[in-house]
Amino acid sequence: MAVIAQKCPDIQVTVVDLNEERINRWNDPDLTNIPIYEPGLSEIVAEARGRNLFFSTDVDKAIFEAQVIFISVNTPTKTYGSGKGMAADLKYIELCARQIARIAKDDKIVVEKSTLPVRTAEAIKSILDHTGNGVQFQILSNPEFLAEGTAVQDLINPDRVLIGGDNHTAEGQKAIDALVGVYANWVNKDKILTTNVWSSELSKLTANAFLAQRVSSINAMSELCEKTGANVNEVAKAIGMDSRIGSKFLKASVGFGGSCFQKDILNLVYISKSFGLKQVADYWEQVIIMNDHQKRRFANNIVKTLYNTVADKKIAFLGWAFKKDTNDTRESSAIYIANDLINEQAKIAIYDPKVDENQVLSDLDYLETRPADKNRKAITAYEDPYEACKGAHAIAILTEWDEFTKYDWKRVYDNMQKPAFIFDGRNLLDGKELSKLGFVYQSIGS
Ligand SMILES: NC(=O)c1ccc[n+]([C@@H]2O[C@H](COP(=O)([O-])OP(=O)(O)OC[C@H]3O[C@@H](n4cnc5c(N)ncnc54)[C@H](O)[C@@H]3O)[C@@H](O)[C@H]2O)c1
Repeated sequence: MAVIAQKCPDIQVTVVDLNEERINRWNDPDLTNIPIYEPGLSEIVAEARGRNLFFSTDVDKAIFEAQVIFISVNTPTKTYGSGKGMAADLKYIELCARQIARIAKDDKIVVEKSTLPVRTAEAIKSILDHTGNGVQFQILSNPEFLAEGTAVQDLINPDRVLIGGDNHTAEGQKAIDALVGVYANWVNKDKILTTNVWSSELSKLTANAFLAQRVSSINAMSELCEKTGANVNEVAKAIGMDSRIGSKFLKASVGFGGSCFQKDILNLVYISKSFGLKQVADYWEQVIIMNDHQKRRFANNIVKTLYNTVADKKIAFLGWAFKKDTNDTRESSAIYIANDLINEQAKIAIYDPKVDENQVLSDLDYLETRPADKNRKAITAYEDPYEACKGAHAIAILTEWDEFTKYDWKRVYDNMQKPAFIFDGRNLLDGKELSKLGFVYQSIGS
């Protein structure tokens, strides 16, 4: 929404959220305090905020005044009832639809921006039409393909913009054209695809499933490489130069995290199951199974290498966010690895440039593996990476932050227990150089 506001100064954009603390932070004059860390975002907010970009908790007023409403609420995996652990939880979407229906007094275009299971638009339309005040609603699907960490660039320069709508009626086509008109302010028309609503909804899940599948595929090869003496980086380079395959999303790692891949694939698995397509569901579920295996095997390897015990040993984690250039930690591999190591009674020291101790603790508490006070005793977060590593038996690299490649690794080594181990879960560091300093260096897939 910030990018739309920046690129379309004639359009007034109001972002509303029930979460007052978040809105207060979006309005904070100190731009380092906005809730999402994303390179380039604070500059855009600085430019547009107060001009045509506003943040508010007054949801009713914003609905009443808007011509176009983007529903961008969260759609987490259900944690209860039928579809628990798989289906998308649509309660927030339904609440929004009911609120829009109640407040709207003139015709509106309602845009699904959240990632939704195919045919959700039908449910939204039904709620709007049955509970509304007799006004007309057009539902469009406009899934978001940005990646965290590069969100601003992805939005300014998208590979494509996808808009699904009811292209069989004049009103539907008018709504599609209106949204195309917004994006056309900065995106070339040939990059704006229009489809029917269902294709658009399913394309987003398909894109995430294909990307996650590549990560799980190369990770499956990483384990085979370790057994055979092949090197996964060399394998990835060799196959990535094949123009039919391409080089992106082929980096072996400790597994993918983030709020989207896992939840969207589970969602796809659930939809497939609910249509009785067992083989299709099993096929996609294997992507998740492989990802869980990769995290578990990384933690097991740390324990095994540290002489089969990590009890009371200090293990330093460099990185907690699910990838670099974001403060988002949802589904980060680091959470699961910490959890496994705490089960083995390790002490975890964490340093992440954008994540604080409260976030780490709330991520661990969310797993409900043990009482919160036990998590508090097992972890400490540091603001200085050298302090985090001081006295540690091992370091685990869990996020590919650029700054980790620039550390004074000799200084780190001198202050660690010996032998000093590095488990590079991101294949980020120069193993040869670190070995020369005396580290025992292990990376994924070689
Ligand atoms: N994060 C990403 O990179 C990304 C990328 C593409 C698509 N998506 C999709 O976008 C959606 C949102 O993702 P997110 O990461 O921004 O989630 P989020 O949880 O960070 O943000 C959702 C916000 O919606 C607010 N909210 C919930 N119900 C509300 C209501 N009834 N009225 C007003 N506000 C309400 C919450 O308070 C929260 O601040 C998801 O469907 C996700 O799959 C996310």
